[in-house]
Amino acid sequence: MPGIVVVGAQWGDEGKGKIVDVITPSVQIVVRYQGGNNTGHTVVNERGKFVLHTVPVGVFHEKTSIIERGVVVHPSSLVAEIDELENRGISVDKLLKINPFAHLVMPWHILKDLGTEASGTELKIGTTGKGIGPCYQEKMGRRHAIRVADLLNKSHFAARLEEVYNLKRRKLAHYTELPSLEEIRAEYLWARERILPFIADTGKIIRSILDKDGKVLFEGAQAFRLDVDHGTYPYTTSSNTTAAAAVMYTGIHPREVRMILGVVKALETRVGKGPFPTEFGGRESEIWCNDPLTTKEREDRNYPDVSTDEPNEFKRGIAMRRLANEYGATTGRARRCGRLDLPLLRYSLQELNADEIALTKLDLMGLCSEVQICTAYQGVGSDIDIFDYEKLGEQMPLYSEMESWGELNNVACRRDLPERAQEVLGLIERFTGRPITFVSTGPEPNQIINT
Ligand code: IMP
Repeated sequence: MPGIVVVGAQWGDEGKGKIVDVITPSVQIVVRYQGGNNTGHTVVNERGKFVLHTVPVGVFHEKTSIIERGVVVHPSSLVAEIDELENRGISVDKLLKINPFAHLVMPWHILKDLGTEASGTELKIGTTGKGIGPCYQEKMGRRHAIRVADLLNKSHFAARLEEVYNLKRRKLAHYTELPSLEEIRAEYLWARERILPFIADTGKIIRSILDKDGKVLFEGAQAFRLDVDHGTYPYTTSSNTTAAAAVMYTGIHPREVRMILGVVKALETRVGKGPFPTEFGGRESEIWCNDPLTTKEREDRNYPDVSTDEPNEFKRGIAMRRLANEYGATTGRARRCGRLDLPLLRYSLQELNADEIALTKLDLMGLCSEVQICTAYQGVGSDIDIFDYEKLGEQMPLYSEMESWGELNNVACRRDLPERAQEVLGLIERFTGRPITFVSTGPEPNQIINT
């Protein structure tokens, strides 16, 4: 005992990387349990800024870092990530462990994901285009999946690859862009050489730590509202992203999870399609952000002079995005921005069974001309237990407003925060019934307080 789960409570990009990085020194191992390289966990440390996609954050503190069976692995991207870390002075050789039952993302998964998204139909979800959905689909379908374990024996892998490749080529016309079998084989066998030493019985490693009363940190990817069963389906990712998924994907006893820390960003953001009641600019923003041509450069060019005082909500959203640098760590896409939604947050934390809250980007909340927080929906009130996600997008949020507090400087403890910022913390705690134990007040590693 015990297990600690760090999990996003909104739509992802809450700043989980920084929170995991802060807690890691006090644990023995860090485990990524779901998702794939659709994730981007950002860590800033004395060596600079890093964005991890599949490698767990534990490597920065020389902790055993496990990629568990619930993760889907794109081998050459993983090798590129490892190489980048090594080029910047971080060796994962003795740290990284990969469960053999993790599934491999194959080129046809990526092509299918990109092809469906490019079809311009209602099938578009706004995925990251990394092939994650099709890979999980095949995992559940069982017949065409290829796992890390298949890499162990070279000739077995080559035969399995050829078998599945031929099926894909024959059956699906939109795979015409598929590289040749020789090219795919060369890429995967090259990556195999690098990955082989990391394959291990990770379940045994986790068990041995828990049995010795050690601490295991489970690093969630994506977030509650993107969970395929609990989230805003179909606008979700394709894995289970809840804290309970840490138990399911690793097989530990549920009682071994001692603490669930829900990471909450003071400003709501969402990438891709789906309901978002408190979004600045509503539907106009959703369309603009989901246009594949929308980049930071395009926004800077089209809207050079927007500010957070803007009466026009859509433009205010662009100003917020620019200030908060809310552009995807994995895809560079513009994230849809909105105000903190407390009824939805209460529901999310309840369903996650979160014990505590880590609040991130509090500094950015103060940079708006006035702070608006949704405390109820018109005609519905604030006390919503079960959300009808179909109707979520139609809700009219009601805001509690207060004057902004400006920049946050030299914050060493909760009492150092401006009074109004402290009021916001109190409001979140009362509303959700959960204590805030971490507050991140800026991007730097030391800009965080443990309250
Ligand atoms: P997929 O996971 O690439 O299939 O994308 C499905 C949905 O989840 C899309 O709306 C993505 O934008 C969203 N998504 C996936 N991973 C992340 C993440 O790490 N942060 C935020 N959104 C994500």
